[in-house]
Amino acid sequence: MGAFRISGGHHLTGEVSVRGAKNSVLKLMAVALLAEGRTTITNVPDIMDVTIMGQLISRLGATVDFDSEQRQLIIDVPAELEQRADYDLVRQMRASISVLGPLIARLGVADIALPGGDAIGSRGLDMHMAGLERMGVKVTSEHGYLLASAPERLRAASIWLDFPSVGATETLLMASVTADGTTVIDNAAREPEIVDICEMLAGMGARIGGVGTSTLVIDGVDALHPTTHATVPDRIVAGTWAAAAAIAGGDVTVHGADYHHLEIALDKLTSAGADVTTASDMFRVRMEDRATAVDIVTLPYPGFPTDLQPQFITLNAVSQGVAMVTENLFESRFKFVNELVRLGADVRIEGHHALVRGRERLSGAPVVATDIRAGASLVLAGLVANGETLVTEVHHIDRGYDSFVTDLQSLGADIERVPLPLAASL
Ligand code: UD1
Repeated sequence: MGAFRISGGHHLTGEVSVRGAKNSVLKLMAVALLAEGRTTITNVPDIMDVTIMGQLISRLGATVDFDSEQRQLIIDVPAELEQRADYDLVRQMRASISVLGPLIARLGVADIALPGGDAIGSRGLDMHMAGLERMGVKVTSEHGYLLASAPERLRAASIWLDFPSVGATETLLMASVTADGTTVIDNAAREPEIVDICEMLAGMGARIGGVGTSTLVIDGVDALHPTTHATVPDRIVAGTWAAAAAIAGGDVTVHGADYHHLEIALDKLTSAGADVTTASDMFRVRMEDRATAVDIVTLPYPGFPTDLQPQFITLNAVSQGVAMVTENLFESRFKFVNELVRLGADVRIEGHHALVRGRERLSGAPVVATDIRAGASLVLAGLVANGETLVTEVHHIDRGYDSFVTDLQSLGADIERVPLPLAASL
């Protein structure tokens, strides 16, 4: 996988296309498990996480065929599924927890390895568990596994989430579509990826009301059937390109994106001084001068996405002025700031606030990607750093960005993937 070597100082000009959303397709693959037979998912990004999820659902008994030319997945689901998701795969990807809903719905039992650090009832999975328990599922934890079992068909329930958690909404949706009766999920997440899952489920015969609102009403049906479904465009990848144009300067058109899903981020870029234009399935970001720093507060959708927070910290780090970035979803999201500071950024963290003072230029250095969005953001920082930046641990970036390096090259960036032995010697 190597590292990325970036030579800063080039504007970005040209056009890129985004594919389906990572945060949707992984869940759509789990949704496919709900129906016996052959389901097709299109607009699939060619990323590591799709491969890992493919391995996981194969282990559960499905046959998975990814056509990288057509960007399409064909998932053949047998009548009998395995109940156990092993640690070797789950630990690689937190999204593995999304097989819990389908397994408990289809088999009435599921053994899922706990993603690192989590324990039953702890922050992270408590809302998934509490909701399932209301539906008649018994949940325990043993030897690092979450063991869920329902002696009878799941029963509908009224569930109020403490927080509009994306993952908990998904688990409860997948569990309730074939439950006995009408389930109501209140304070549900409203992310476009949730809408996408609801639409795929509806295509399989599920009956879901309130799609796109914070109250989902699910009338359980006896069984679902396979379908063909196109993945919603990746708003976070699209937003990363938008931020890239504002950071490096230039003129970038992003195709295949739904700008309605990004309105708040694009509006921030306008406030930062960019010229943003939109059309049906594309948008264009032009930035001629140095940006002006913009305050950011992350919130559940339709608020500013936490998955774009690192990219906007990077934008602020090279803008004129001072900005406050407030992270309300994942505190550990600020970890990457240490790496950004290695590139010369001026960022002070106080709890869940980051105070960013813009610098005219950053200074190239070796840095380590700590997660997907942090990794992408360090690459964006490298685009405006003097000299060379070397980003290592790029497997994180490969997990979520399809053809990141070649797309950046096509926009005029000086970036290449270098093998690790060479990287180590730089
Ligand atoms: C998903 C996305 C992630 C995105 C996030 C918020 C995927 C694979 N990941 O993550 O990229 O940043 O939505 O948009 O789709 N929480 C609890 N208890 C629970 C569930 C969640 O305390 O039962 C907490 C989490 O620890 C976190 C916050 O709620 O602090 C948000 O979690 P959630 O919305 O569930 O995000 P994920 O589904 O994990």
